[in-house]
Order: sequence, then C-alpha cells, then structure tokens
Amino acid sequence: MLSSPMRTSRQYLALPLFGLLLLLVFPLHGAQAQVGAVPDPVRAGEGMVVSAERHATAAGQQMLAAGGNAVDAAVATGFALAVTHPMAGNLGGGGFMVLRLPDGETLTIDHREEAPSGATEDLYLDAGGAIDTDRRRLGHLAAGVPGTVAGLLYAHERFGRLSRAEVITPALNLAQDGFSISAREADRLNRYRSDFLNFPGSARYFTKEEPWAAGDTLVQEDLAQVLRRIRAEGRDGFYRGETAALIVEEMERGGGLISHNDLQAYAPVERAPVTTRYRGHRIISMGPPSSGGLALGQLFAAVEPFDVAALGFGGSATVHLMAEAMRRTYADRARYPADPDFVDIPMAGLMAPAYVRERMQTFDPERITPSDSVQAGVPPGWESTETTHYGAVDREGMAVSLTTTINALYGNKVAVDGAGFFLNNEMADFTAKPGEPDMFGLIGSEANAIAPGKRPLSSMTPTIVEDPEGKLLLLIGSPGGSTIITTVFQVILNLIDHGMELSEAIAAPRVHHQWQPEALRYERLGLAPDVREALQAKGWSLSGGTTRWGRAQGIMVVCDATDVLADDAGMRAAELAREGCVYEGVADPRSEGTAAGL
Ligand code: GLY
Repeated sequence: MLSSPMRTSRQYLALPLFGLLLLLVFPLHGAQAQVGAVPDPVRAGEGMVVSAERHATAAGQQMLAAGGNAVDAAVATGFALAVTHPMAGNLGGGGFMVLRLPDGETLTIDHREEAPSGATEDLYLDAGGAIDTDRRRLGHLAAGVPGTVAGLLYAHERFGRLSRAEVITPALNLAQDGFSISAREADRLNRYRSDFLNFPGSARYFTKEEPWAAGDTLVQEDLAQVLRRIRAEGRDGFYRGETAALIVEEMERGGGLISHNDLQAYAPVERAPVTTRYRGHRIISMGPPSSGGLALGQLFAAVEPFDVAALGFGGSATVHLMAEAMRRTYADRARYPADPDFVDIPMAGLMAPAYVRERMQTFDPERITPSDSVQAGVPPGWESTETTHYGAVDREGMAVSLTTTINALYGNKVAVDGAGFFLNNEMADFTAKPGEPDMFGLIGSEANAIAPGKRPLSSMTPTIVEDPEGKLLLLIGSPGGSTIITTVFQVILNLIDHGMELSEAIAAPRVHHQWQPEALRYERLGLAPDVREALQAKGWSLSGGTTRWGRAQGIMVVCDATDVLADDAGMRAAELAREGCVYEGVADPRSEGTAAGL
C-alpha cells in the first residue's frame, strides 16, 4: 500500500462521455486495440511498472516482488527491453531518466549518446555541401557513443537496493533462453529485413529464411554473453574488454568513428530537472540536451491563460490554440536548445511566462499565424550571441520515468557482430546543416552542430507530475521523435483540463505541429469532419489522418476513482475506499506495451 496516501482531485476522475462513446464505437481487442480504444488500467497498491513490452514489464515487476525499489525495477526493465524490444530498447543507445525520491527530491540522469572524438561539423555533408541523408541515418557513421549501460548502472549504484546480478539476470535469461515475439515485432523485423541484410551481424541475429511470425522464439546468445560480462564487471563489461573490442571492430569494418577512448571516456551526467507549473501542478521533466522539459514549460505557459476546459476536448478552438502554442514553441526549439555543456541556453528567459505570453500576443482565435511570420523569439537575458518510454514506482513512492532510444527503429540497422545489439543513429539528431530539416523534419541551428564529445539535441520528455499539494501524481513519457513533446503535453492537458482518466488521456487522438512544416498533423480518427472544416476556415492546412504516433506509457496515483462504466462505478469506488490510494498503470493501445503491479 502507498505509505503516504496521495489524493488526486476528482477533476481527473470525472467520467467523460467521450470515453464511454469510444468504448462503444471501438470495443477492446487486447493488444490489437485501435486508437481511441480505452485500455483497461492495471491497479495495484505496492508498486507499478509500465513499458512497451510485456517480458520487460514482467522483469521490473519481479524486482518489486523481490523487495527492490523503483530504480531496481526500472533498471531491470531497461536491460530486458534491450533484449525483447530490439527496435528501441537498447544497450547501443542512450536516454534520459527523471527521478523523484520518496522525500520529494528530484533529479535527472542524462545518458544521451555523444559524438565520437573523430566527428566533425561537416560529417554528413557531401562535396557539394548537401546533406548525405543515408550517411547520417544508416550504418556505422551514424552511431554516437552509447550511454545506456553507463546510465542504468549509475542509477542502480546510486539508488538501487538489489544487487547488480539480480537486476540484470532477467534480461540475461530472456536473451539466453529466448522469448516469444509479438505479431508487431514479427512484422517490424520482416519490414526491415532488406536493411538488416546489409550488415553481417544484423543479418545473422535478426533475419532467417522464413519470415518471422508471432510466437517465434528469439534466442540471442551473443547478447546474453554481453549481459553476462556487464553483470560480472559492471560498466567495464561494456566500455572495456571484449564488448568494447567488438564495438570497435564493427566500427572498423564499416568506417565508423567510435574508438576505445570514446567508450572509456563516456560518463552519464546528473542534471537538475526543468520544472514548470500548470494550474497548480508541478511538472518535472528533462532539460537540455533534451528540449522536452523546456518545450513543455513553454506550451503550458502559452495555454494557461485560456479556459481550455471550457473550450473542450477535440474542438476546433482547442486544437487551434494548442497548435499555435506548438508552432511558437518549436520555432524556439529550432534556435536555442542544445548540449548545455557546449552552448549557453537562456533557459530562464525562454521559460518565463511573460516571455511566452508575449509570444502569444499574435495569437488570433480566428486565424492561423503562418510559420513564416513566426521566428524564434528573443527571451529576456539573451544576448545575441524509436525510442521507448518506461516507468516504475514503488511502495515508498520512489518514481522513475525513463525514455531511451537508438533513434530510428533498430537504430542505424547495424547489430554489432559478436555482441548482438543494434547501434544507434543518434548522430542524425545533430543539425547537419543549419536551417535544413532532420529526419523528423525539425529545423536546427548552429547551436546543435556536431562537435566531438557533444550530445545531440533530443525531444525525449520523460516527465513526473506532482499534484497541487506537492504529492506524486503521474509518470508519463512517449517515443515518437518530434511528436514526443506534444504527446506528453496533450496527455497532461487531457488529465488536468479535460478531466479524463489516464487510460482515456493516453488513448485519445492527438495532433502535432512543429513550426516547420506548416501543416497541422492529426491522427487517424483524430478530427471529426466538421472540426477539420472549422480549422481549414481558420487557415490551417491539415495532414495525416491515416497514421498514429507515440506510445505513451503512464502511471498515475488514483485515490478515489470512479469508472466510466456506470454499473462498475459503485464497486470500483468501494474497492478503492477500502484499499486507499493505488497506482494505475496504462500502456498506450498504440503499442504492445503492458503495465504490471504489485
Ligand atoms: N532520437 C529522438 C530524440 O532524441 O528526440
């Protein structure tokens, strides 16, 4: 049971008609649930883990059951994702961890990849000065120095309760004995087969004669060996010795840059989180080199003066307001944030409500402000000068919200031969050429230019929210490249302003705008025809409507829940009143994720 009961406002737990309607229109089909379907939350009093893959969630849950804390659970989940979710879980990538300790102290651990020491500013420009898109996306030259192993082990040594062997063994067993792959994993592996065939390790580990099928067992013996070395030697089992030699040999085979020195020099960095307030809540998120926390701060400051609840979920006025806030936020994102160890970022000025509101002075409820007329602002104090998210909480209230990535699905598509894990293509998150879009269409500036040892700008937004009384309320995050920030923003807005339950807030269709390109993107089934017409009348050009994005994973403290289904409501309320506050875990129905509690 939660040691200090945390009260949520009934505002979050109100019963929106929206959810009921969606349930009627899109009945649940387990893992096949469609966008709009509301997943059944998992509730438990002693702890909760949520991740994008069920074996990895189970590994974290096992740690809680063995007396481990949220960090033990998150670290075990992270290592397991490297085995069971190879498209994004990783040893060869990096990430950001946001922690809230039981006494309320907060911190972050930046274990983002770094540019190798041999990297140069013009690394991805051809002789004519044009960007060589393939070189920065595919293959050895796209890889930054991995940070995941150092980051997970750092967190574990600092805060974990169980032994290193205990938190790594579930992943090792999954690699050694194999696990049964999901239908979606089989589809993805089949889709990338031709890329994998270009690289001997990827071909050996992730292709076979016949197409992959749901239920196939994936055994990864070389990866198990790497995990065995990490279990025995800690970070030296990855950054030195046999594993490091395999990485460097792979680099030499394919013309990559990561050297033994780069690997040995890699260190995670503990940084203060970026915090902002929204309607009394404290939003604790990741600062640079991620743009996530800064952008969230700007987005919330931009919409706070408006009565978003009255404008309503899904209406053209709300979508218009959110998208105009996004447009201005992403214009600043293109200009200012980067690795804070390399550039000065006017964080206080950019986050100041007065600055953001001044940026919103040009907001017109009836008309768009075209992106060409919106440039990065000049904040006070400024002198010119596939990713995956998981989270864990424990009975003491320690909370870990962690987003990790190798960037594209299966990273640079190179699995290290002899080691069995994919490397990242995170170098593509640097600005290869100022003013030109990256693989997510994001524009960048000189501030995010490549330099040896520098960490590329990210959109990852692992976030923790406290309620107005300062108590733990929510852990949230998502993959999705440039859409990560707007996904986290909309989930929180859905909870605070639209009174949704967490399952509804995560399942609800999303929109996205990132300044450039001009079009406003919306998800499949995301905007009703009359809403689209109203937005077009304001001047919006719309795109999308066919795909979905993001796989948000959330855990929320719920103290007096009612249920969307009237028949069930009385029973659920009585159950919760008897048991006190519970953790509610929700995996996005857009993914094959799961939540599991204790
Ligand atoms: N690689 C995606 C991001 O960090 O934003």
